[in-house]
Amino acid sequence: MSKVFHITSFLGECLQRALATSGIESTERDARIQPSDPRLGDFQANGLMALAKSQKTSPLSLAEQVMCSLEVDEEWRKTEIKAFVSGPGFITFQLSDAFLLHWLNRYKKEECLKRDAGQRLLGRKVVIDYSSPNTAKQMHVGHLRSMIIGESLQRLLRFCGAEVIRDNHIGDWGTQFGILILMLKRHSFDFEKNSSDILKTLEALYKEGVALTKADENLLNEARRELVLLQQGDRTNMSLWQRINDISYRAFEEIYDEMDVHFDCVLGESFYRDQVDRVLRELEEIGVAEVSEGALVVRHREHSRFCEQPFLIRKKDGASNYATTDLATLLYRVEHFHTDEIIYVTDGRQQDHFQQLFLTAEAWFAQKNYVLPILKHVWFGTILGKDGKAIKTRSGEPVHLRELMEEAKSRAYAIVSEKNPHLLEEEKRQIARVVGLGAIRYADLSQNRTHDYAFSWGKLLSFEGNTAPYLLYALARIRSIFRKVAPPLREESTTVDMAMIGTAEERALAKKLVLFPYALGQAIEDLCPHFLCTYLYELAEIFSSFYNTNRILDEEKTVTVRRLALCSRTGLMLKQGLTLLGMETLEKM
Ligand code: ARG
Repeated sequence: MSKVFHITSFLGECLQRALATSGIESTERDARIQPSDPRLGDFQANGLMALAKSQKTSPLSLAEQVMCSLEVDEEWRKTEIKAFVSGPGFITFQLSDAFLLHWLNRYKKEECLKRDAGQRLLGRKVVIDYSSPNTAKQMHVGHLRSMIIGESLQRLLRFCGAEVIRDNHIGDWGTQFGILILMLKRHSFDFEKNSSDILKTLEALYKEGVALTKADENLLNEARRELVLLQQGDRTNMSLWQRINDISYRAFEEIYDEMDVHFDCVLGESFYRDQVDRVLRELEEIGVAEVSEGALVVRHREHSRFCEQPFLIRKKDGASNYATTDLATLLYRVEHFHTDEIIYVTDGRQQDHFQQLFLTAEAWFAQKNYVLPILKHVWFGTILGKDGKAIKTRSGEPVHLRELMEEAKSRAYAIVSEKNPHLLEEEKRQIARVVGLGAIRYADLSQNRTHDYAFSWGKLLSFEGNTAPYLLYALARIRSIFRKVAPPLREESTTVDMAMIGTAEERALAKKLVLFPYALGQAIEDLCPHFLCTYLYELAEIFSSFYNTNRILDEEKTVTVRRLALCSRTGLMLKQGLTLLGMETLEKM
């Protein structure tokens, strides 16, 4: 049964075997299975039409041959799934009640789901680079998506069996330090006296420094000197830098803790500074990089756009940059972690950077015979304000993450207090935290990550539609059903008899439940968590119509048990799904 977990892959394999038995070679793509229009069946194979064409046979006769081969396939026959030929030669599959009930019985607990899902990426080692903010600044809304999307992806990958290394590539070696150190010295900055809200103070100081150095050439040169001193390892500057970083890391940590985001590897860009020389030397030696007007660049001549837009890896003044660091980091990850795959989660505006990085790595690794991992850039769009531009505060500043999170909690608190004034204060706060933070998260993840989206408190905190409150409430409602059942019934103990499924709503719900692994597969394949969100939302809706029309506690015990089982599996999938999105869930709401 294990393979049947991924019902669509299982059907695809059966189909491919049947084709082979009929003497027809096929690819996985030819035999790809998709959920079908429910009026026709549960699943269908669309690729057979094209396959028939390439085999110069009619789709109908191909479909009929396949049906004959399926009939004698041992594994297929065990499942009691029905197959039909319909229309001009589609093959449609119908899951039997027995199959659905069997499946539901198997997935009683999270562990069972996990064990089967874990086969998918078993043995694959993946470094995922996400969040990766810059130090000396507070995290703002521009840092939200990488953290949220990255966290969900790492959970999905891990759940599907990959060995994941969560890597926070902190920007701690930027040019901002020249100006900042200059200002700290000019003000004889006292870290102790300024200890409250110190990052805010540093940020203001930096801004002041930017304005001053813009207006005064001498000052700008002084700032440059401070940066060079830092890069040369000057004691005073290094210690100021260290202090700023310590403060920044602590502030990041507070946000990560509250958002339940954790890393295995936190290395700043500065960690790679001794490794860039080797990278530059190798690239120059093998001729991948060339000197151009004093700078070192990589030209991708075969590329339509990058041929005119070289990849700068060492500036004219000899300084390395973001690209150099990324090359050194890539090599480190390969040599240190022996990773099979690296995933970078950043803003869409870095697409060119990563394309050029990957092209450079390909050329470099090929010549040096290094093993190139699979490289993926998972990029995302912008969060927009009411005016349709990147979201800002009224005064035009970026919205700080800390403040956004506090506002989410206090807005959720107001809603919870209004809906449920009798709850204990502590309960209200707990619910408000889960709902508020979950709402920010879910609003982001439920969008296709490559799209921009408009941030709206009203929408993300709504109890209707594809939102966190709606899903959290659906789950809490299922929990409350189990609190009412007498005698107390453990959710996972509800085993369904191999009886018939009663109503159309029961059947619709059972069929949707079976698709959980399919949704997981979609999310993993494109690294797009919104597929999972859409699934969970549809599941909750189907559950809701089941719940509204089918009495759970029926006079007939077998009916009650079966319906309770459907409730419990829905609860399991919702809980597991929300957890994979990084969300906390509630027993009561
Ligand atoms: N610190 C960078 C930024 O804020 C993101 C780093 C992403 N990771 C990387 N390896 N380049 O834009």
